[in-house]
Amino acid sequence: MSLFHIKPKIYYGSDSLDILKTLEMKKVFIVTDKTMVKLGVINNITDILKERNVEIEVYSDVNPDPKDEEIIKGMLDFVSFDPDCVIALGGGSPIDACKGILYFVKKIKRAMNETEKLTFIAVPTTSGTGSEVTTYSVVTSGNKKIPLSDVEMLPDIAILNPVFTETLPPAVIGDTGMDVLTHAIEAYVSANPNLFSRTLAIGAIRTVFSDLVKNYENPSLEKERTNMQIASCMAGVAFSTSSLGINHSVAHSVGALFHKPHGRLNAVLMPKIIAFNAKNPAARKAYCEIARALDFIPKTEQEGVEILIKGIEMRNAKMGIPKRLRDLGIPKDEYFKQIDKIINDIENDMCTEYNPRKFSYAEIKELLEEVY
Ligand SMILES: NC(=O)c1ccc[n+]([C@@H]2O[C@H](COP(=O)([O-])OP(=O)(O)OC[C@H]3O[C@@H](n4cnc5c(N)ncnc54)[C@H](O)[C@@H]3O)[C@@H](O)[C@H]2O)c1
Ligand SMILES: [Fe+2]
Repeated sequence: MSLFHIKPKIYYGSDSLDILKTLEMKKVFIVTDKTMVKLGVINNITDILKERNVEIEVYSDVNPDPKDEEIIKGMLDFVSFDPDCVIALGGGSPIDACKGILYFVKKIKRAMNETEKLTFIAVPTTSGTGSEVTTYSVVTSGNKKIPLSDVEMLPDIAILNPVFTETLPPAVIGDTGMDVLTHAIEAYVSANPNLFSRTLAIGAIRTVFSDLVKNYENPSLEKERTNMQIASCMAGVAFSTSSLGINHSVAHSVGALFHKPHGRLNAVLMPKIIAFNAKNPAARKAYCEIARALDFIPKTEQEGVEILIKGIEMRNAKMGIPKRLRDLGIPKDEYFKQIDKIINDIENDMCTEYNPRKFSYAEIKELLEEVY
């Protein structure tokens, strides 16, 4: 049975925070990170809530790539505060941590025959993961990144306001923007595509190709910032229904071991993973369709693949993203010592299921050697 979800409600643009002035809420639990508090980004929300005399509790102990213990700590604070609204404010890390908190709180309450009735609002401050519109949450446990997926983790409301991405450092703009591109390309070439996901993926890819480098070079441009927020969101909806691929499986495994930014890992890996997947005829055709949607006129499908790879490499180079994992400071000895664990994690990652090319142990090992 095919299902295409349309949730959450998405308020976007520079007046989108006005929705917080109208919603019914008495106690709001905000999940965020220390940077949002330090930079005062959180004040854009708390100022409105304070004006309305809403009770607020802030949980800001979330770090990049949230760990299970950060989620457990957040659950304890959440339960003792007992809010009627929860706001996740931040990049993918605080939003995923918040989703993890809600996932486990709802499970526990259900086991006790209690229901959890609250409004869940996600406010992204990076244009990257699309977590505000996905059923996914990526949690790190030990040296493993585990993607969870459950419809219960979908926010009710997403607010995309360009004020929240004003303070992003260019390096984070580049990394997270390339994460958007990876989501959209993997959603498009997935072995489980549909017309909804493919149409949204193409919209996201075209927007990243036209606006990401401009956003990186001049973060004050509001139109490009707004467009990247929408691209991130479209790519999130796209991969939510068609799934991702091994670009993400490799990034999850290597990221959990070596703690490098998720988007940057995806960006470094993407050209070689596209070349690897393009050995599959259906994937090759799909990559060529993407090149055509970007207004290139390749003579053959293989030429389409190569044009797409070139376009990605050019954008990586302009944003200071290196070509290989070794350039990210991942130590060679440790990487090759862990290669069997990496392969095992890739095989067990839910993103691998719909990768367009199936592969043997020897083939994935060769790819991992090549990307290093
Ligand atoms: N749920 C999903 O669907 C999904 C999809 C892809 C990735 N992920 C996960 O999301 C996480 C990555 O999220 P991310 O790439 O958005 O980064 P992040 O949330 O980890 O943030 C990266 C850094 O940027 C800072 N930052 C964020 N917004 C800022 C702003 N407006 N101004 C200044 N600094 C800011 C943060 O404080 C942090 O130091 C990873 O754990 C990844 O695995 C989730
Ligand atoms: Fe991602």
